[in-house]
Amino acid sequence: MDWPKGIGGLCYGGDYNPEQWPEEVWKEDVALMRRAGVNLVSVGVFSWARLEPSPGSYDFAWLDRVLDLLHGAGVRVNLATPTASPPPWFGLAHPDALTVTADGTRLTHGSRDTYCVSAPAYREASARIAGELARRYRGHPALAMWHVHNEYGTGCHCDHAAAAFRTWLRGRYGTLDALNDAWTGSFWSQHHSAWEQVMPPRATQYLPNPAQTLDFRRFLSDEMLAHFREQKAVLREHTPDVPATTNFVLGDWVPVDHRRWAAETDLVAVDHYPAADPPQETAFAADLARGWAGGRPWLLMEQAVVTYTGPRMIAKRPGEITRLSLSHIARGSRGVMFFQWRASRGGAEPRHAGMVPHAGEDSRIFREITELGALLPSLEEACRAPVEAGAAVLWDAEAGWALQAPGLPSTGLDYTRAVRQAHRVLYRGGVTADVVHPSADLSAYRLVLVPALYLISDDDAANLRRHVEGGGTLVVTYLSGVADLCARVRTGGYPGALRDLLGVRVEESHPLPPGTALYVSTRLPDADLSRLLGLEPSPLELVRRGEWVFAVNHGDDEQQVPDGPLLPPGGYAVRRARQG
Ligand code: GAL
Repeated sequence: MDWPKGIGGLCYGGDYNPEQWPEEVWKEDVALMRRAGVNLVSVGVFSWARLEPSPGSYDFAWLDRVLDLLHGAGVRVNLATPTASPPPWFGLAHPDALTVTADGTRLTHGSRDTYCVSAPAYREASARIAGELARRYRGHPALAMWHVHNEYGTGCHCDHAAAAFRTWLRGRYGTLDALNDAWTGSFWSQHHSAWEQVMPPRATQYLPNPAQTLDFRRFLSDEMLAHFREQKAVLREHTPDVPATTNFVLGDWVPVDHRRWAAETDLVAVDHYPAADPPQETAFAADLARGWAGGRPWLLMEQAVVTYTGPRMIAKRPGEITRLSLSHIARGSRGVMFFQWRASRGGAEPRHAGMVPHAGEDSRIFREITELGALLPSLEEACRAPVEAGAAVLWDAEAGWALQAPGLPSTGLDYTRAVRQAHRVLYRGGVTADVVHPSADLSAYRLVLVPALYLISDDDAANLRRHVEGGGTLVVTYLSGVADLCARVRTGGYPGALRDLLGVRVEESHPLPPGTALYVSTRLPDADLSRLLGLEPSPLELVRRGEWVFAVNHGDDEQQVPDGPLLPPGGYAVRRARQG
């Protein structure tokens, strides 16, 4: 546990945007950070316009002062490359590098994330500003980590994107014949006779081609990864021993396969903003992040002191910030970070509270932030042991993308909802689950749930078979196994690739000894899925780590920790369960 560089224990802090405040406020900021126990802040995430006010001319003086001030207060810096928000001059100088939507609208600067990741001008400008930052701050004692970009996820449909997509497709398929075959070009006269005819999925008359849409998402993921890699290489050149990461954003709309990206980051980092059911959503996001990290520690890079519920932004209830933070820590996070340190006065997110809210230090939120900062160091020993999980829920971004295609049996299909339900039932039943890809080593799990895994490769299907043959239990739900990697239906009967393993064709079922394989042929309510798995829903969150147990009572009644204390509503305990 020795990184981010110079932080031996758990990280605590958030996005810090000093450029939004006069310098007098900076001194108060670092004093309050010390009071709250903050040891890491992400700086410069959206600072490009301040760092490079006109093309090729740089102003680092203000950032020098910020880093020196933080260093003086013992706060380390997760320094961002600001490429998620190019300055106004960039779009005027390079209109061809602004985002084009699927319907052909070219966007204008005025928000953030308005660029095409395939545009040469954007790629060059990104690498340049990353290089300038690295040159300036290599050797700065506050520099602990690089925060590349922010929440990769912006796609574009312009001609640059089209050209790059064709190059990517040539790499994947080699020949046009292979592409036509993979995209079922024989359907609706979509056979391409030259590469120039191949397009991104721009707005079209009726249902788009699902294989084209799926490949475009794969392409965007790889294209953004190339952008990340370029910056990481520049940063490495100047600061070889400073780790680099980027904050993953969760959501069905995100065309990023975070599992593939995880290996390219030095530390997996995720942002998490729960909505309807914060405890369960938090447990799911954290278990997903741990899966991406392959069991290694990961870092909650952003959370909020408020909850978004669609139309409303609600302050977290007393103690809720701590409880949800504890859930992240119990599930492997290397610390807790917030968006953001101090709530902004203006700009597009003025109602988004911060660790220091608009009310200032004399506020319930800041008091809770200070209490949490004091609590974290006491958890460090418990966090050395790995998280124990006896069950797994399978998750594959590509399967989710494929299930968003048109022409499926129901428009009500929702991959994330299906996976979260499977996870929720285990969670409420007191089972800690890893959320992993179908290709993962499943040998450590007694129980593996496979919710709505529409698309699966032959190799991954074989992996599920090995799990069952090794004595494990597999629970597969509706629509799993149906399609191949080109989103083409496997003929011969559903569930396609899993038909033989499950012994199911239409209504027939053959349990396979020595393992147990069950096929759930419909979307069950939670209560029924719990009953099927023999679990009792409970608001008591229990996570075992070696001889340690984290217990958090998210409910309104007292809860008994097995072999432990009676927890009051909202209470928690971190204690040794087993000796030796
Ligand atoms: C995150 C983003 C932050 C901030 C936050 C609050 O997704 O990374 O920059 O916008 O949401 O809305």
